[in-house]
Amino acid sequence: MNVWGIVVAAGSGERFGGGKHQAEIAGKPLWQHAHDVLVAGGCHGVVVVGDVPGGVAGGVRRQDSVANGLAQVPADADVVLVHDAARPAASAELVAAVIGRLRDPAVDGVVPAIPVTDTIKVHDSGVVTATPPRAQFVAAQTPQGFRADVLRAAHGQPDDVTDDAELVERAGGTVVIVDGEPKNLKLTYRDDIERMRSGWGSA
Ligand code: CTP
Ligand code: MG
Repeated sequence: MNVWGIVVAAGSGERFGGGKHQAEIAGKPLWQHAHDVLVAGGCHGVVVVGDVPGGVAGGVRRQDSVANGLAQVPADADVVLVHDAARPAASAELVAAVIGRLRDPAVDGVVPAIPVTDTIKVHDSGVVTATPPRAQFVAAQTPQGFRADVLRAAHGQPDDVTDDAELVERAGGTVVIVDGEPKNLKLTYRDDIERMRSGWGSA
């Protein structure tokens, strides 16, 4: 399989207070961690999207950034992994597991996910309307992996989504889950990076 990766490192990092993707952990910018783990886990090439050396321009929404990256992925790629620069702590083993699951021809997409530990409530303007069984929920991470043709077709749809798997799900593709990693946190707020720096290398 010819496997390619896309690291999305654009966006404004508004909740972080700006400069999210120039931020460093263990002496490397976040996008570089995301890039390097994709290579270590088996990607033959990686396109980085964002204002970084060698990067391609980002888009307004995350999915626009992914589409810009996808346009640079060679036509003969079989599989494409999409990874958030904001998740610098994913392991090469996780990348390899996502790729490995796509060896099954019945699988169109793979999402790493971890169990939800909080009780989940459904509400309407602050009034609880339901408490669904927690076991049916998992929290989705990246890298997410897809058959390249399926991802390209799904990105032709106009839907507004927060991950690539949703586009593939809506297009009728089969998306499966592999075990994510608790340490593979998404850095959203400024405090998140301090917490990750202090625990780096210990998990
Ligand atoms: N992303 C992107 N292009 C966008 C928006 C987001 O490439 N237009 C990327 C970010 O770089 C990040 C990942 O998508 O690696 C997840 O997005 P998020 O953590 O929400 O980052 P931002 O959108 O930059 O942050 P915020 O929502 O707080 O502004
Ligand atoms: Mg965002």
